[in-house]
Amino acid sequence: MTSTDIRPDLTGGLTFPPGFTFGAATAAYQIEGAVGVDGRGPSIWDTFSHTPGRTFQGHTGDVAVEHYARYRDDVALMADLGLSAYRFSVAWSRVLPEGAGRVEQRGLDFYSRLVDELLAQGVDPWLTLYHWDLPQALQDRGGWSARDTAARFADYAGTVYDALGDRVRHWSTLNEPMCSALLGHMSGQHAPGLRDAVAASRATHHLLLGHGLAARLLRDEGAESLGITLNFTPMTPATDRPADVDAARRLDGQQNRMFLEPVVHGAYPEDVVADLAAAGAPLPVRDGDLEVIATPLDWLGVNYYFESTVQVGVRPADRPTSFIGGEDVVELEPQGPTTTMGWGVSPGAFTRLLLWLHERAPGLPLVVTENGSAWDDAVSADGAVHDPERTEYLLRHLEAVTTAIDGGADVRGYFAWSLLDNYEWARGYAQRFGLVHVDYATQQRTLKDSAHVYAELLRRHRQAPEG
Ligand code: FCB
Repeated sequence: MTSTDIRPDLTGGLTFPPGFTFGAATAAYQIEGAVGVDGRGPSIWDTFSHTPGRTFQGHTGDVAVEHYARYRDDVALMADLGLSAYRFSVAWSRVLPEGAGRVEQRGLDFYSRLVDELLAQGVDPWLTLYHWDLPQALQDRGGWSARDTAARFADYAGTVYDALGDRVRHWSTLNEPMCSALLGHMSGQHAPGLRDAVAASRATHHLLLGHGLAARLLRDEGAESLGITLNFTPMTPATDRPADVDAARRLDGQQNRMFLEPVVHGAYPEDVVADLAAAGAPLPVRDGDLEVIATPLDWLGVNYYFESTVQVGVRPADRPTSFIGGEDVVELEPQGPTTTMGWGVSPGAFTRLLLWLHERAPGLPLVVTENGSAWDDAVSADGAVHDPERTEYLLRHLEAVTTAIDGGADVRGYFAWSLLDNYEWARGYAQRFGLVHVDYATQQRTLKDSAHVYAELLRRHRQAPEG
């Protein structure tokens, strides 16, 4: 018996269908740094993070994990882990510093080098065009509240496609438009930091319109694999009292269905339309918009972290709601252990979500484009990073995916959030989501135990007999 034979199967014996994509995800502003390099223009996240009081201890993405300079080493890490795919985003203001018009070739060249490096290492690039970092110049012209921004997004998509479409197969328009629209314009937790229901409703529709215009253009240009990433939080009422049931319906409406339904069925849910109108913030839909928004896709990106239990109640003054007309709804503290984000751990809800999506969007393959957890990680005296909670979270959520697949859901891939510890938006560097630990003082990367387990799972997957 060799040592390999007696090595415990740390992967829990999980198996996935042949051809299943395993990757890790990042986003430009969270990892690149180099905010003033090669002609990059400012984005709303530069402005927001540099505004006192907006982010944890004033943290910004100015330096982040220096991926702009270190991308080759980071791609080498991906290859070491055996990732078959890497999901990253392009910073719009690197490509178009003013958001529209003048193209900055050096910005495009960076992504071109990154893509070449990924392909050279056998890692398939999955490109997201927009992960929250609107060029500030466009914000100055109204941002997503302005209908014109949707058209500018499509122009930008075309510019990136012209440069990279010969090598990148997988294209995603938006990451989590719910967060851009509602955290950005309703609760103000994210850039541009507004608290304005009308702006939030307008941003919702214009983001989706921008998605549709870009999707149509990429489709016409010949993009082979096209999707959007939405974030889903299952909402459960705390009691069966009608008011609580209705509170869950309202939040589910804006969190989940308001984005899913127009994309896959070309219509906003009627109850959501009514809720927004009643709140004085109607969706600014024009004739023909919904057909554009429902441009057929090849896959739906699913981001899942936790579920939520809600009821009517009084919100603390320092916790403005993210939901239009949701001022009377509170989210309960999760039961059981929570991550350092304060998020609960519910793999069962993940299975149910994937099965629900399969039912709501029949025929549309699902790709888990983000899932992961933040914990207090540190490099130990032995030089390793022991992260049993993340490993457990990872395995239980991968298992949840297999359960959904067994139940009939057509899930094609899983991207762990995140490859590296990085800038967790308003929560700054205090939240570590990486499979790879980053020492922010030295930029030293160290594979966490969870990364080794993931790599082992991927190795076994590659070696599994086909079919
Ligand atoms: C998602 C974001 C991603 C990261 C994770 C933790 O909402 O898309 O950038 O911040 O949450």
